[in-house]
Amino acid sequence: MDIDQLMFRPGLMDGQRILITGGGTGLGKEMAEGVLKLGGEVHICSRRGGVCEETAEELMSKHGGKVVPHACDIRVAEAITEMNDRIWSAHGPLTGLVNNAAGNFISRTEDLSVRGFDAISNIVFRGTFCMTQDIGKRWIDQNLRGNVISILTTWVWNGGPFVVPSAMSKSAVNTMTQSLATEWGRYGLRFNAIAPGPFPTEGMTKRLAPQAETTEDMNRDGRNPMGRIGFMHELVNLAVFLMGPGAEYVNGQTIAIDGAAYNATGGNFYQLSNWSDEDWQTARNAIEATNAKDRAKRTV
Ligand code: HXC
Ligand code: NAP
Repeated sequence: MDIDQLMFRPGLMDGQRILITGGGTGLGKEMAEGVLKLGGEVHICSRRGGVCEETAEELMSKHGGKVVPHACDIRVAEAITEMNDRIWSAHGPLTGLVNNAAGNFISRTEDLSVRGFDAISNIVFRGTFCMTQDIGKRWIDQNLRGNVISILTTWVWNGGPFVVPSAMSKSAVNTMTQSLATEWGRYGLRFNAIAPGPFPTEGMTKRLAPQAETTEDMNRDGRNPMGRIGFMHELVNLAVFLMGPGAEYVNGQTIAIDGAAYNATGGNFYQLSNWSDEDWQTARNAIEATNAKDRAKRTV
């Protein structure tokens, strides 16, 4: 991210303590840097504890401040509670949560096993709920204000061919956002979401476009009306707008940031309909190699 492109005043996030799930890599890391740079205390978690530690060191050496890494698998409800207990007792209550952790890969739906479906839905659908509920209950019990954003996709509005477990799970989190904004608004808790178009990251590109040779290939066939992929600072500015003080009346909304791609073209993977069996096998081999490489670094 070009940190100079942040549109907010220094110190905007002073006093905020925000947990970003999956904050060691990709979009989560970018949002962590933005919140840190604007004065917030940041907690990041994922299964690869070492990756979170490296990210925390890197960001603090660049900007100072406090980034705390946690090894936590959000598929395990007890691990979520233990991490949040540690945060509350060693650092103090969180003021915000960014539900960013996810798993995904492209596959024809007829090729998916039940374990393949579970591998995605247990992170995105179940894990996001468990994390949000654990933190929400603490805020309600302690009469604290709180703010949650979830990172979705535009598929929540028009479906996601070839990524059905992800599209189903993200749609459920969209529904959670609308439901809790209304149910828990009376406690001073608010819930919004962001639906990004392509912002190439290693985790995403290697699983959703394993055939792409450059990040520009993610602007598939030049199909984006703006003719480009998203810039990280654009996403971070939107996240800070929703998380920071000053826009508290925004509640229950999901905002697309995709250069109007889904309006123009659907913004999904429909174009993979013309892939051959061989194309799918090549993609699967590449995706499973990435999965194995990342799995070897997990510490929980
Ligand atoms: C079919 C596949 C597959 C593939 C894995 N599986 N890859 N099936 N096609 N390409 C199946 C396996 O065969 C296995 O089922 C089951 O899934 C579980 O596989 P594991 O590798 O054991 O799973 P696990 O170690 O739990 O890893 C979880 C994961 C992995 C989701 C599969 O991709 C991961 O850790 N992802 C985290 C990061 C990530 O995905 N980032 C991308 C976010 S981008 P069987 O039955 O064979 O045992 C995003 C949206 C972007 O979310 C939107 C862009 C516009
Ligand atoms: P990424 O770098 O792969 O980020 C996913 C993160 O989630 C990783 O840090 C991963 O770390 C973590 N994670 C996965 N399973 C977890 C678990 N069980 N417990 C804890 N953490 C877990 O990919 P990304 O592109 O930045 O994606 C970030 C978010 O943006 C996702 O919600 C994705 O759906 C969304 N999104 C991305 C794009 C895009 O173009 N990049 C577009 C739309 C939406 P570990 O493997 O170490 O656990």
